Amino acid sequence: MKLYIATDHAAFCIKEDVKKILTDLGNEVIDLGPENDSRVDYPDFAHKLCTQVLADEGSQGVLICGTGIGMSLAANKHHGIRAALCHDAYTAQMAREHNDANVLCFGQRVVGLGVIESICESWCHYNFEGGRHADRVEKIEL
Ligand code: RB5
Repeated sequence: MKLYIATDHAAFCIKEDVKKILTDLGNEVIDLGPENDSRVDYPDFAHKLCTQVLADEGSQGVLICGTGIGMSLAANKHHGIRAALCHDAYTAQMAREHNDANVLCFGQRVVGLGVIESICESWCHYNFEGGRHADRVEKIEL
């Protein structure tokens, strides 16, 4: 799968590790920045990534900030983006199977690399189940 990734300064320190995890899982990973840990505003990177994901059918995104909260709030302003703030493998699985989430968010200050690895594995392994969940997902958009 093609995955766009972006962080803010708080999560810049783990971006390369997460890129490696995702690449090792067989994904094509495209880095949308930032290029260093200088202070940036997370909505700028959330909006940049969501614009790309919406323009590139079938692609998904990974957004990381300190808590994952700001990134998910900003990403969910985009129609067609379903950003899920995940804390573990289970929430990542449910985000894919039940919510058809297309942007994964998590917090660098919340989860360690081992948990991040299991979140990524789960995200990449599970697919949307459709059925009753499709009707609910459709109702999300106003
Ligand atoms: C940056 O200090 C922090 O506010 C940001 O990374 C994120 O956690 C916001 O939701």
